[in-house]
Amino acid sequence: MLTFGIMTLNMESENSYINELANRAESMGMEVFRFIPSDIHPHNLQVKGRKYDSRTNAWLECNAPIPTIIYDRCFYGEDDHSKQCLPIVTWLKSRKDLTFLGYGLPNKLELYQALKSTTLSSYLPSTQAVLSIESILTELTLRKKIILKPINGSQGYGIYYLKKNEKTIHVKTEKQKRIISRIFPNEAKLTHWLTLLLKQRNYLLQPYLELSNKENKPFDIRILLQKNELGVWGEQGRGVRIGTTGGLLSNLAAGGSVINFKEWLVSLPPAKGEYLQQELKFILTSLPSTLEKAFMPLFEIGVDIGIAKDGSIWILDINSKPGRKVILSTNPELQDSLYTKPLLYGKYLSQTDQMERKVYDEKTLSH
Ligand SMILES: Nc1ncnc2c1ncn2[C@@H]1O[C@H](COP(=O)(O)OP(=O)(O)O)[C@@H](O)[C@H]1O
Ligand SMILES: [Mg+2]
Repeated sequence: MLTFGIMTLNMESENSYINELANRAESMGMEVFRFIPSDIHPHNLQVKGRKYDSRTNAWLECNAPIPTIIYDRCFYGEDDHSKQCLPIVTWLKSRKDLTFLGYGLPNKLELYQALKSTTLSSYLPSTQAVLSIESILTELTLRKKIILKPINGSQGYGIYYLKKNEKTIHVKTEKQKRIISRIFPNEAKLTHWLTLLLKQRNYLLQPYLELSNKENKPFDIRILLQKNELGVWGEQGRGVRIGTTGGLLSNLAAGGSVINFKEWLVSLPPAKGEYLQQELKFILTSLPSTLEKAFMPLFEIGVDIGIAKDGSIWILDINSKPGRKVILSTNPELQDSLYTKPLLYGKYLSQTDQMERKVYDEKTLSH
């Protein structure tokens, strides 16, 4: 029987999602084995993990060879265990005898650099690495409002809005729906604060986009694209994420809520809705192949699209390990499809010749 491997950084990660997959695997002729990269034995290449027993609906601990089909659901942080696992996963991804459903995407800056020379460039907010405090001050003087965000960020963590007033500088961030505001009386005080901030992690800088709705709530459209059982990309669903009044973030992890896309769309003037649908169609049909040309093969992506007050449309973020919350809460009828797609695609991969897919030696591995 084909083993469908699921790799996470700990055995509790995404339990309900993984259980749903495991429950459906047997009927597709597969068994599910979940494991943690650091539990691979370096000598005999056996890994201690858990196999799903569909008779008892329980996970049984066992040693097994590394599964040849792997669904990577590792979410890295700054902790030591993440740092320990990263090189192991890089090694796994470079092995010719293993096939990953998706090989991940690089950080936000590399993504920007690769996409800015494609047909999607006009949808990308101009993005630059923060190389010095002077560059932040220069951009702030030029643009008045900017955003700083971690190059490796996720889930809305560590995002700052900076606004230059006549004399002072207003800095705003959001933590668990709480808006934290601070006014710096001059550039010297701001510089001191920025020095500390930039020591913590690498940042990028973008112009601030007015992505809020009429109620002054930030919002964006989250679309989940996945490959089907024939390896063809398609849209799985979309929803609208809405953040806190006066806030910055629409991420659900930051406390945002979700509404149904169609219900939201009818609230727009028809011409605007029509235009948006056309633009989204163009973005969503070009994006997967553009990404796979620039980087490695993927199975799924979550795309965040922002719509500014002036009607402009922006690709804000692309996630290669998207969550399913937005789709599940607005389209509960998609449950079954969501929980079978990875298995079907894994099965498809196991049945097709992987040599073509593996011509990626010259491409850089990312996660
Ligand atoms: N340039 C920007 N201007 C205004 N708001 C932004 C900008 N970039 C991001 N945001 C807001 O912050 C949220 C998180 O940003 P994103 O780039 O998706 O990072 P993360 O990886 O943390 O999700 C977005 O969903 C959006 O609400
Ligand atoms: Mg995002």
